[in-house]
Amino acid sequence: MKKEIALLPGDGIGPEVVDCAQKVLKKIAEIFSHHFDFKHGVIGAKAIEETGDPLPKETLEICLKADAILLGAVGDPKYDLDPKAKVRPEQGLLRLRKELGLFANLRPVFVFPFLKKISPLKEELLENVDFIFVRELTGGIYFGEPRGRSETGEIAFDTCIYSKNEILRVAKIAFELAKERKKKVTLVDKANVLATSRLWRETIMEFSKNYPQIQLELLYVDNAAMQIIKRPFDFDVILTENLFGDILTDESAVIAGSIGLLPSASIGEKTSLFEPIHGSYPQAAGKNIANPIATILSGAMILEYSFNLKKESNLIRKAIKEVLKEGFGTQDLFPEKILGTLELTEKIIQKIEELKDES
Ligand code: IPM
Ligand code: MN
Repeated sequence: MKKEIALLPGDGIGPEVVDCAQKVLKKIAEIFSHHFDFKHGVIGAKAIEETGDPLPKETLEICLKADAILLGAVGDPKYDLDPKAKVRPEQGLLRLRKELGLFANLRPVFVFPFLKKISPLKEELLENVDFIFVRELTGGIYFGEPRGRSETGEIAFDTCIYSKNEILRVAKIAFELAKERKKKVTLVDKANVLATSRLWRETIMEFSKNYPQIQLELLYVDNAAMQIIKRPFDFDVILTENLFGDILTDESAVIAGSIGLLPSASIGEKTSLFEPIHGSYPQAAGKNIANPIATILSGAMILEYSFNLKKESNLIRKAIKEVLKEGFGTQDLFPEKILGTLELTEKIIQKIEELKDES
């Protein structure tokens, strides 16, 4: 199979972890005789430095032409400490999501068997944890207009806005996923307070009638934040709007033990984008300590979701599991044997080679 993959390393640890994922993808291409062409683009703070624009035209063009996109992370402390900055790294990612129509963000939450001990949750709560967020990604308060400041600068406002169509298209993805999984959708909203949430609830309750085999659960977001930690094994597909999804997916990463483990896929109208759910972790940049697993798993999601290469993606997952079982890991995993970012990647690649004939 011949495919083009756009690589957008971005900021902080982004370049290191994307490099690792690229190495793994190259190994897979070699074993299975695929041909992956990699095209690099700049985004985020790096792109602002080089071009003044967090999403330069060239980067967008590379993405539109590619068969899939792998992104590292965007964000830089320089901008975090300057709330007045007009141009921000995050705008690059937000614009990219909008331009590509990536309205659904899929974020699986799972626990590696050998990492149960690093989760802050009790082990008995971690049995059978396997759920996935479907977060709406191109609407809501992230994009709603008007937004800004009053003339005096003393008042600021954002607008949360959703149309029925925006809700329906992402709902379809959630319910179709649930059909193939544990047949349950949990809608998370704040319908006791927000008008947009009431539209979500009304729309989903109606839409769910097309899926009589699927159980629909309704939770307010404050309660959901609690339930996800109290009974993580009880969820299957969690459907929610943009901001709630942003917050709850970070919370849920804690269940897995480290935010460095979880991948994500953003899908929609054009090329799909894959990225770890963690941020740019600037304190770790250049130190060879970042966990590459979330990005390598994002690469595996490219193979599975965009290229339909299930054997290949399973081989990557199996190799990672095996390496973790042998006690290797980056420092965030408190492993028996601490490895650097690159060394852990080498171990995973070695394991892929070892396991290739079983796949
Ligand atoms: C995420 C990130 C982004 C978001 C930022 C970097 C704009 O936190 O993908 O979860 O808020 O969506
Ligand atoms: Mn986030």
